[in-house]
Amino acid sequence: MNEKKAFIRSVGRFVPERRLTNQDLEKMVDTTDEWIFTRTGIRERRILEPGLGNSYMACRAARECLERAGVEAGEIDAIIVGTVTPDMLFPSTACLVQSALEAKRAWGFDLSAGCSGFIFSLVNGAQMIESGRHEKVLVIGSDVMSTIVDYEDRNTCVLFGDAAGAVLLEPCPEPGYGILDYIHRIDGAGGEYLHMKAGGSRRPASMETVQNKEHFVYQEGRQVFKHAVTEMAGVSVEIMKRNGLEGKDIAFFVPHQANLRIIGASAERMGIESSKVVINVDRFANTTAATIPLCLYDVTVEEKRVKKSDYVVLSAFGAGFTWGSVLLRWWE
Ligand code: UT7
Repeated sequence: MNEKKAFIRSVGRFVPERRLTNQDLEKMVDTTDEWIFTRTGIRERRILEPGLGNSYMACRAARECLERAGVEAGEIDAIIVGTVTPDMLFPSTACLVQSALEAKRAWGFDLSAGCSGFIFSLVNGAQMIESGRHEKVLVIGSDVMSTIVDYEDRNTCVLFGDAAGAVLLEPCPEPGYGILDYIHRIDGAGGEYLHMKAGGSRRPASMETVQNKEHFVYQEGRQVFKHAVTEMAGVSVEIMKRNGLEGKDIAFFVPHQANLRIIGASAERMGIESSKVVINVDRFANTTAATIPLCLYDVTVEEKRVKKSDYVVLSAFGAGFTWGSVLLRWWE
């Protein structure tokens, strides 16, 4: 087995200033703070100033991440951006970030996996390090969901927010630490429940697609909810089991932040007590690929709660369907 694991050397984030509260939404669509909070756990979300785009947020998060590590952009070998809301279809957001940061040596790409975008990107980045060919990989989860959400549709507009999170991966100096294991899965049959109808090659943008509001998130919430609970918990339990760990051994469970009820059900099946579950859905809502790095930022930078040797489980479920779980043993 390859002993050269990757570890998360530093974390950065960007959250836009503007807050959109549940009370604000009450004035926009037929909803209530009570409905939103009891069904999802969300109180407010952040909204990016129009026109700035994904790469603006991704760069802000990346810069903070690099500053915290004391690493220059020119030292980065690769940049992976998990997103479903790139600045444009091409060039990739990774290219735009590379240029803005002046990361002259880096190559990179965008990775589309919905709300699993960050954990899928993280594992790709970790494998680049494990290959021995890369020393510094920047992994970013960034989404401007406000640009693809219909603020006249109460089913979806209350759920999402904008944000970016970034981590820097490096080879872990000590064996037995870092990104130890992962289980990632996809099931394209789930696509019908969560997708964007137009804007791709099958149904390019036209007057008709715009009039029909086909460039917004389409979600059948109940279906997604059902699968999310089963699958997120399933892979999280599986990864613990196959590494000989139980709920009591896990210091932090960092789940994708879509719905407090999905998070609670997963933690319960994993046997993880609530104090170890990282939550920020109340403050930022569902920021798609950014939720997990934002949570990592909370527990590492803001609260400084994570210690060396802590086992941390990351887990997500999203459009595709895509889902997965990552086991880390913290090294710093
Ligand atoms: O991150 C990517 C993956 N996405 C997810 O994990 C999301 C998973 N799904 C969910 O989190 C939940 O399904 C939602 C939060 C989206 C919805 O919660 P729910 O408990 O599944 O509600 P529902 O969709 O079954 O709707 C219940 C009722 C409906 O009314 P009727 O048909 O019972 O009369 C909806 O029309 O709630 C109504 N409703 C609302 N009412 C007030 C839907 N949205 C709203 C709203 N305010 N914003």
